[in-house]
Amino acid sequence: MKQKIPVGILGATGTVGQRFIERLAVHPWFELAAVAASDRSSGKPYAEAARWRLPSALPDRIGAMTVAAVTEEMPCRIVFSALDAATAREAEPACARRGMMVFSNASAYRMEEDVPLLIPEINAASLALLPRQRSQRRWKGAIVTNANCSTIFLAMALYPLHREFGVEKVFVTTMQAVSGAGYPGVASLDILGNVIPDIPEEAAKMEREVAKILGQTRGDAVVPAPFTVSAMTYRVPVEDGHTESVSVGLSRRVPAAEIERAWNEFRGPDEVAALPSAPERPVIFLSEAQRPQPRRDVDAAGGMATLVGGLKPCALLDWKFTALGHNTVRGAAGASVLNAEYAAAQGLLD
Ligand SMILES: NC(=O)c1ccc[n+]([C@@H]2O[C@H](COP(=O)([O-])OP(=O)(O)OC[C@H]3O[C@@H](n4cnc5c(N)ncnc54)[C@H](OP(=O)(O)O)[C@@H]3O)[C@@H](O)[C@H]2O)c1
Repeated sequence: MKQKIPVGILGATGTVGQRFIERLAVHPWFELAAVAASDRSSGKPYAEAARWRLPSALPDRIGAMTVAAVTEEMPCRIVFSALDAATAREAEPACARRGMMVFSNASAYRMEEDVPLLIPEINAASLALLPRQRSQRRWKGAIVTNANCSTIFLAMALYPLHREFGVEKVFVTTMQAVSGAGYPGVASLDILGNVIPDIPEEAAKMEREVAKILGQTRGDAVVPAPFTVSAMTYRVPVEDGHTESVSVGLSRRVPAAEIERAWNEFRGPDEVAALPSAPERPVIFLSEAQRPQPRRDVDAAGGMATLVGGLKPCALLDWKFTALGHNTVRGAAGASVLNAEYAAAQGLLD
């Protein structure tokens, strides 16, 4: 890339917005040119508007940037969105209409038929929806989404099994970190020493999104994968990292060694594996007992891998295992940046 591509962040002051800043401040292809947030923040220097919570230092250049309103023109070809769904529903199309490529974490457009729900290691072909999106909506730009954070780790763990053995049924229970609720998120008196069931709308998102991601792109449409997913979701007192207990039914009998091999051998397409943010191994199988664990494993591969372990026969379905991923990295900002890298490498930003 001869010249860096100017990019902006919508929702730059929040939990995911800060992860975007951390990644974009040192990105080899992208140059952070604008940060935007709500009226509470706009007009202020970023360092004053945001309560920086990451262990890495906020770069001085970015701390001094003035926060824009999400409705303002931004000097960018790409915007990364870390807005809540209601705000995203208005703000993201406005950017796409102005000619920007929007890479979104919000749920607002994920399930629209003409919007890619992209994990490039799995469904790179879904970018074929973009010409239809642009012509139907008369946008010069476009929206590309990444999935709900828990969905991403489930899809990653299932895909190597689905493409080789055929997944038929999935039952998943999540144990999700507090950073997944944004900042300030869940009150400490609600979560300390506690577990909160039924994260609003989370189970339904997982159930529908995983079928779209593992579906087939045919022409400019996606045919969802024909399996059934049942999800239960829980907030737990963990800072970062969503853990998932997964039971899976396959279309044929498969020994444990074959499942482990499918995970170990899984790699994205070469053009995805070569991208700056792509993990060397998208799925890492841990053979040690009682792994993966958020405290020990969440930062593996810089937070970009999905970890799986504890594979055992399941008395109800065929196999059960534990999956884990970093919710604000591969589950959010890192996923969007990887999506944008893939689009750039495919010439979609030229
Ligand atoms: N946290 C995760 O692990 C995670 C993972 C995957 C996806 N997501 C999704 O990513 C998005 C952001 O989540 P988050 O956890 O970063 O939330 P958050 O910490 O609450 O941050 C929300 C951001 O949106 C801005 N915002 C709020 N209301 C606004 C408005 N009316 N107009 C313009 N900007 C507004 C906030 O700006 P101010 O600071 O000015 O209020 C802030 O920058 C959500 O859609 C969430 O579902 C989150």
